[in-house]
Amino acid sequence: MALTIPDISLNDGNTIPQLGFGVFQIEPKDTVAAVTTAFEVGYRHIDTAEMYGNEAEVGEAVRVSGLDRSSVYVTSKLNNGFHRPDDARRAFDSTLAALKMDYIDLFLIHWPLPTLYDGDYVSTWKVLEEFQRDGRARSIGVSNFQVSHLERLAAEASVVPVVNQIEAHPYFGNDEVRAYGREHNILTEAWSPIAQGKVLDDPTVVDIAGQLDRTPAQVVLRWHVQRGDIIFPKSTTPKRIEENTRIFDFELDDAAMERITALNKGEAGRQGPNPDTFAYLPN
Ligand SMILES: NC(=O)c1ccc[n+]([C@@H]2O[C@H](COP(=O)([O-])OP(=O)(O)OC[C@H]3O[C@@H](n4cnc5c(N)ncnc54)[C@H](OP(=O)(O)O)[C@@H]3O)[C@@H](O)[C@H]2O)c1
Repeated sequence: MALTIPDISLNDGNTIPQLGFGVFQIEPKDTVAAVTTAFEVGYRHIDTAEMYGNEAEVGEAVRVSGLDRSSVYVTSKLNNGFHRPDDARRAFDSTLAALKMDYIDLFLIHWPLPTLYDGDYVSTWKVLEEFQRDGRARSIGVSNFQVSHLERLAAEASVVPVVNQIEAHPYFGNDEVRAYGREHNILTEAWSPIAQGKVLDDPTVVDIAGQLDRTPAQVVLRWHVQRGDIIFPKSTTPKRIEENTRIFDFELDDAAMERITALNKGEAGRQGPNPDTFAYLPN
């Protein structure tokens, strides 16, 4: 059966495929092969970042696929060292040059870095607004923004981010930030959707997977889909890349959804850095 991935509407009128393929921690030398496998099994949405060091290889994979540029959805992100407006403009030029593309579907501020740049992520956001106005970014959004950061953008900027890409998985529901997004028309993209594999041995997940004759990864990815979030699991294993697409031909009932949601450990379940204090600047 051909894979049909639902498109979700963004607040700017564009749409985004709900399932994509993430390339964080894929070595540049392995990226073309992984993305090519992803295209072969039906993914059309790739999530990369300047920080991942593989934008050029993502662009190459798009070109060798022979797919129409318009049928592929590509996201990249502004790296932490480039928040000052002129640096952000140069960094965005470099991202498009690396991808060898004349536009990107979605461009994000990767981290808010509230303890750096005098806490000013608003002027950075206003530069992303320029990229959208000049048509080189079809949509713009943020990543790792907390509620306070989103509130400040709402007060000081005119464009509402289309998405907020945040850590979310069964051990870290991140529901306060998700709820703010829901109320303000900002979709949630859930990063590390299977907690980099750490939720796959969970007895509850394993039990539900057994009952449905699905894998633990499929069950967790399906839970995200039914929460309405956008996901892009990463894998360099062809069998898993394909396995992670087979999540649109079954459903979790309310009881299974609730059992997975109840695995939430709150802050203790966070695997990645806390955006309020994260202040990493690449060399
Ligand atoms: N905005 C941000 O700050 C941020 C931060 C982190 C991630 N992200 C984005 O989110 C994407 C996904 O997150 P992630 O890469 O951190 O983690 P993830 O997708 O939750 O997990 C990836 C790990 O799970 C394994 N895996 C994948 N599918 C599996 C399956 N079906 N069965 C068993 N194991 C499986 C992979 O192993 P193998 O590769 O060995 O198969 C890999 O070790 C990233 O690639 C990136 O695009 C964004």
